[in-house]
Amino acid sequence: MTMNDVYNDYEEILDLLKQYIRQEQHDGVKIVKASSYKPEYELQEKSPVSKSEVLERLAEEVAQCRRCPLGKSRIKAVFGQGNPDADLMFVGEGPGYDEDRQGLPFVGRAGQLLTKIIEAIKMRREDVFITNIVKCHPMKDPTSPEKRGNDRPPDDEEAGICRPFLLAQIDIIKPKIICALGTYAAQTLLDTKQTIGRLRGRFYDFNGTKIMPTLHPASCLYQASNKKYVWVDMKMIRDELKKR
Ligand code: URA
Repeated sequence: MTMNDVYNDYEEILDLLKQYIRQEQHDGVKIVKASSYKPEYELQEKSPVSKSEVLERLAEEVAQCRRCPLGKSRIKAVFGQGNPDADLMFVGEGPGYDEDRQGLPFVGRAGQLLTKIIEAIKMRREDVFITNIVKCHPMKDPTSPEKRGNDRPPDDEEAGICRPFLLAQIDIIKPKIICALGTYAAQTLLDTKQTIGRLRGRFYDFNGTKIMPTLHPASCLYQASNKKYVWVDMKMIRDELKKR
């Protein structure tokens, strides 16, 4: 192979990349750039501080947070739960009624289904890390936290204020794959307004980590036929994890 061949190959790859990016932009997908956020507890190679300790300190920061109104109406902040060395991270939209009471993510009916989904690819809930876009319960009526059915998706301001916590979690855990659960998580992470139906079923790049959007487990509870799409996406995740 001559230098000329190498140069031609390079040109061809560059063209393909340009085409790919143009197609992505045409589909409404923006390439998400790294945030300027610097986590307070960056892991130093020689640091004696373990990932769990770093996560614990970050969780304390979240528990103290009152930077948006959700921090004032919540009962408990829901930092996230799971293996600090997880290869797979799940990100939902925000805690609901049960999560607000227990301080743990995905512990209600949708959460029980999520546990089964994880087990379907021969993993355990303890192997993965589970968290949400926002760490406090978004309520339609924040003056009635005792009411069931009072959940709503977070708004963009709440998600933006909470984003540094999620980015820090990703930075500390360094999962190989993030599975975005449902429209809100997928649209927020990928900075797009595309529907989950169009987004799901393929991997996207998020600062070097792969993101697989899939349907929210709650949507499978009221529409059982949605489970087949989640299964397709989960098999892609399982196969991708096996490659490494
Ligand atoms: N739905 C979510 O998106 N997150 C939870 O933690 C629970 C339900």
